[in-house]
Amino acid sequence: MPSPTLTNAWKSLLTHAHEMGAPDINAWFHSDPARGARHCVEAAGITLDFSKQPVTDKTMALLGELATEMNVKSWTKRMFSGEKINFTEARAVLHVALRNRSNRPIFVDSVDVMPGVNRVLQQMSDFTEAVREGNWVGHTGAHITDIVNIGIGGSDLGPVMACAALKPFGHPRLRTHFVSNVDGTHLAETLALLNPASTLFVICSKTFTTQETLANAHAARRWLVEKLGSDAAVAKHFVAVSTNAQEVAAFGINTANMFEFWDWVGGRYSLWSAVGLTLALLIGMDQFSDMLAGAFAMDEHFRSAPPANNLPLTLALIGIWQRNFMGAESYGILPYSQALARFPAYLQQLEMESNGKRVDREGEVIGYATAPILWGEPGTNGQHAFYQLIHQGTSVVPADFLFALHSEYPIGDQQTKLLANAIAQTEALLRGKDGAQVVQELTQMGFSAEKIAHLASHRIFPGNRPTSTLTFNRLDPKTLGALIAAYEHKVFVQGIIWNINSFDQWGVELGKQLASRILAELGTSAPAVEHDSSTQRLIGAMAANPGRRE
Ligand code: F6P
Repeated sequence: MPSPTLTNAWKSLLTHAHEMGAPDINAWFHSDPARGARHCVEAAGITLDFSKQPVTDKTMALLGELATEMNVKSWTKRMFSGEKINFTEARAVLHVALRNRSNRPIFVDSVDVMPGVNRVLQQMSDFTEAVREGNWVGHTGAHITDIVNIGIGGSDLGPVMACAALKPFGHPRLRTHFVSNVDGTHLAETLALLNPASTLFVICSKTFTTQETLANAHAARRWLVEKLGSDAAVAKHFVAVSTNAQEVAAFGINTANMFEFWDWVGGRYSLWSAVGLTLALLIGMDQFSDMLAGAFAMDEHFRSAPPANNLPLTLALIGIWQRNFMGAESYGILPYSQALARFPAYLQQLEMESNGKRVDREGEVIGYATAPILWGEPGTNGQHAFYQLIHQGTSVVPADFLFALHSEYPIGDQQTKLLANAIAQTEALLRGKDGAQVVQELTQMGFSAEKIAHLASHRIFPGNRPTSTLTFNRLDPKTLGALIAAYEHKVFVQGIIWNINSFDQWGVELGKQLASRILAELGTSAPAVEHDSSTQRLIGAMAANPGRRE
């Protein structure tokens, strides 16, 4: 595959960006009253309004040509048909099979994966129903009231995000908890909330070798056995989600209580698999299936909609425009939804672990930007923290605003206030406030000419700060499924255009290796390897201050 920079479209986009200069999006709205309605796409209950982005019809057409020249369509077919497009790990990329509600066969190594997918979904259905109905009880006969998901990265971020998002749809008896950090605080403060007799631990790890997860799982197991006084209790209080039956058995969980998934499911794409078990326990299998159906609707849309109406493609192309032609370094995710509080963290792994790459598929170091730094917090909280920088800082931060038109908790007029703030922020970022307006305002407020001259520039907002807005009726399971799938496909398209492998994550390995080495050294008297003087000093500080660690 050629570098995207060698395509005709890339070259035309560079010229186009140069001609556009500093875009005056505000002026475009004035000269084209239909702009707001025209630059909208809708799919699976989600509307994306990208009219406040610095794009014209020509921009979108050229970006569409870039997608064509980079063969996005044929790569999409390759992914959906089970080809091993994750070539550095020799794996297919088939999270779409997990929500393939049509049940059409999808083959990996000539074997249809769908019977396995359906078998595990049935196992999840039987188990979640038993727990929810009270037929699965703990060692002492108590109903399960608390579920603790122990996992990290993709084995945590999806379930934690989705459980928070869909809590209003949860079983009234069940509470979910998540322990990811190897910092003992996370486990200790969670265990302090729990009654062991009614607690179920879901140990979630694709590899079942992840240091943090296994440390927490072993500690949780010790706690349970000590509290309930019997090793036999483990069978009723621990289940596993993994691809590694051998390690699950070695941990002491009966593999009959293991929910399988497969190497063709990437960790950060695994919420749709048994990794979603904690969520399925909370909301029940019918609603979990609704989430899969929402994602499937987005998959079908992505595969078949023409480029101009294709929501994930549009989201991806706007990101490419911002990153590669407008020079954006970072990307804000601003949900006006407390339920989506963990959505930015979820997308951080999805985008940055997938597309934070510096070599192309041929292994060559690339000379163009790939994934931006993604960050965000729910509104309105962010307004009282970092929006100052978005409005008046020296960096332009393109941001996605997300909100549901209806609240699951309509308290007074709070949802109305929330949405008024979201909409106002996108308008303020676009419109800004110029010097003349500031002077007029300050004059009306009775300020002297001298004071106005002193203050005016501080009160100017440059405006033309780009945002996209994604809206939906309610944040229900179906919509959440569609929303996540939209971002997954966005990341996929961007990876194809950047000519990188979005599905490996070698960048997380070096730190893991060195942590194991330092851990081993700390157990011996003399360091086995040479370190730089800073690392050596830090290790020395630990060694000189023993106690309260183990
Ligand atoms: O550290 C990176 C990573 O490999 C992620 O990609 C993955 O989601 C996470 O670790 C957890 O891995 P596992 O599910 O195997 O415990």
